Amino acid sequence: MLIKPIKRIRQSIMVPGDKSISHRAVMFSSIAEGESIIHNFLMGEDCLSTIDCFRKLQVPIDIEGNLVKVRGGGLRSLREPNARLDVGNSGTTIRLIAGILSGQKFDCEITGDASIQRRPMGRVIKPLREMGAEIYGIERENHAPLAIKGHQLAGIHYDMPIASAQVKSSILLAGLYGKGITSIQEPQKSRDHTERMLRHMGADIRVEGLQVLCKPVDKLYGKEVYVPGDISSAAFFLVLGTIAEDGEILIRDVGLNPTRTGIIDVLEQMGARIKVLNKRYSSEEPMGDLLVTSSALKGVEIGGEIIPRLIDEIPVIAVAAAFAKGTTIIRDAQELKVKESNRITAMVTELKKIGADIEETEDGMVIYGRDTLRGGTIESYHDHRIAMALAIAGMRSQEGVFINNSNCVAISFPNFFNIIDRMMQNEN
Ligand code: S3P
Repeated sequence: MLIKPIKRIRQSIMVPGDKSISHRAVMFSSIAEGESIIHNFLMGEDCLSTIDCFRKLQVPIDIEGNLVKVRGGGLRSLREPNARLDVGNSGTTIRLIAGILSGQKFDCEITGDASIQRRPMGRVIKPLREMGAEIYGIERENHAPLAIKGHQLAGIHYDMPIASAQVKSSILLAGLYGKGITSIQEPQKSRDHTERMLRHMGADIRVEGLQVLCKPVDKLYGKEVYVPGDISSAAFFLVLGTIAEDGEILIRDVGLNPTRTGIIDVLEQMGARIKVLNKRYSSEEPMGDLLVTSSALKGVEIGGEIIPRLIDEIPVIAVAAAFAKGTTIIRDAQELKVKESNRITAMVTELKKIGADIEETEDGMVIYGRDTLRGGTIESYHDHRIAMALAIAGMRSQEGVFINNSNCVAISFPNFFNIIDRMMQNEN
């Protein structure tokens, strides 16, 4: 994919539905009772993998445009699949489904693509085993394929060593099937879509600071769910609107859950001009419109408890930092090494190739901002967020960028390049 530089942008856009919320809507509806209707579902490859897994567990799921209808039969209605479940590239699917499947009465196997098979699964295997699950991985019980034998579970207290919404959610879902109370302590707050949606569907979930408590209930209720736009997808255009020479982008209907808005806080700290308009609620999630205008940026230090609130946005924050005045230091972000790719190495290597002054550190990176980037040919590492972050860098570069293996954007943002095309066509 060739991305050319662009100077002037005036555009009003919408980004696709939130990936985390779309996954959860299908999963929780599948174990709820009655029909759930999911509006603005993200038709990206990851969320389609979740639908495929639940169809294999014999849940009736219909797709009508951007609408998904799930006819859930209750907490114990899933049936033994005829084949191995395949989550594709989706870490959220494999980790959350492991929690649900641990409490069933049948056995099954789950796998995914090469990237999934490299990612750590011990972080869910360990707590699920403490709850009584019979769950096995390969390579010292840390990698997929996973085998799960259905078992009666019991609630536990778990002190999470890392802030991870996927691990927290996996334990909470297993907790729905466990005897007694499940409680989880997080070191920092990670995204809380599971807590919000499960409660909306009738689960007994209480949040006390960094602790989440879950008591088993007899049933969850199917609901209508409105998925807001994904702030992690909006992030690419927040950065583009800021670093563009002459930019103004309105992004409508974006999810503004406070556990996800670290990107807005950091960009504002760097000097970006972002207006939040029309704030409202969609189902149990806050949302609004974001208006971003170009502005000069300055370097910042990012670390500590904000990291989980912007973990997926760090690749594109690195792009913003490459155009900022001064130095940006990103710390405490070692989790980036075990995402779809090693996102620290990927961004440092590729941004260097197109002219950025950037260094990898143990737990993040240091970026020395410049006025401009040269451009050139870069790799996506088959990682959607790397491809999109580098595309944004290309739009502000001198020569543009050519991205190898750019199809991976379909994981979370299938029409990403169409939006960029439209910006190119409307430039003047
Ligand atoms: C996600 C949680 C995050 C995030 C991922 C999606 C989720 O990972 O990086 O893209 O939907 O729960 P963690 O489990 O590390 O928080």
